[in-house]
Amino acid sequence: MDSPESAGRILVVDDNPQARDLIRASLVGDGYTVTLAEGGEEALAKVAQELPEVILLDISMPGLNGYEVCARLKGSEATRLIPIVFLTSLSDFEDKLRGIEVGGDDFLTKPFRKVELLARVKSLLRVKRLNDRLENAENVLFALANIIEAKDPYTEGHIFRVATLALKLGRRLGLSPEHQESLWKGGILHDIGKIGVPDAILNKAGRLTPEEQAQMQVHVIMGERICQPLRSIRYLLPVIRHHHEKFDGSGYPDGLRGEEIPITARIVGIVDIYDALITDRPYRPRLSREEALGILRAAAAKRTLDPALVESLIAMVEEEEEGPAPVPGGAAPEEGAAR
Ligand SMILES: [Fe+2]
Repeated sequence: MDSPESAGRILVVDDNPQARDLIRASLVGDGYTVTLAEGGEEALAKVAQELPEVILLDISMPGLNGYEVCARLKGSEATRLIPIVFLTSLSDFEDKLRGIEVGGDDFLTKPFRKVELLARVKSLLRVKRLNDRLENAENVLFALANIIEAKDPYTEGHIFRVATLALKLGRRLGLSPEHQESLWKGGILHDIGKIGVPDAILNKAGRLTPEEQAQMQVHVIMGERICQPLRSIRYLLPVIRHHHEKFDGSGYPDGLRGEEIPITARIVGIVDIYDALITDRPYRPRLSREEALGILRAAAAKRTLDPALVESLIAMVEEEEEGPAPVPGGAAPEEGAAR
């Protein structure tokens, strides 16, 4: 482990011992804690052991080369945010392009000056630490969402199922990666504002009074406010604010209608209702899949839910479960399915 005074943990990967020692001497002289690796396999093992904050990575090495090491690290959730600087004697454009394609953050072309090395490491370390702080803040919000859910035995697993189903539907519809991320994270965070709704209302067995309904509806505004300060997740605020809007304009908080409602919010809204219908709630027992899909279809016919999205969800659920077609119609209203 590094001493408390360490300026940062750096992993240097190079098959040339002189190059390694030279870089180490420069970094140690500036207060960094340095770990060395001779090749790709050793580098991957050292990343797991030492959790470096910046990696200086040679490209041409026997065994796993630098591109392969970089691609693996950037492909793993645990290591994708560690900045990687390629050390290369190759100044060829094609090689740089390949380095960028596999997720490299920067290049140092050999021979490089010490001052250049130190400047590059310092700036990437700053980026890494900022990212860590943002990730920690996001994790706090996800933990909070789980805590809210854990308070209520009826909704256990609900947010995870909503996020999973919303993401699947988004993929099926060919939505962009940004939209897909909104569906996943928005699926988890959409009801985070319920932290501000009294338990007596959240868990009420009977119908909510108009005043209680108003208190419940505040959760979308409260959720938006909780997540707003975190710039890294601003893109999913529309999901949180608008997941209770209705296609005909009868929803809340803004009475948006049709395609004014962001597609991510329409999807999470529909999936939220579907999952609520097929699980037990304090105010009613669970319905069968066929009954739930029937209710969604009826809501689409009344145009309170987006008909095209409802059809896509029904097709997806039916394909997955390979069950019989749902009964069309359905008497129970979808209002109040997910509060
Ligand atoms: Fe909600």
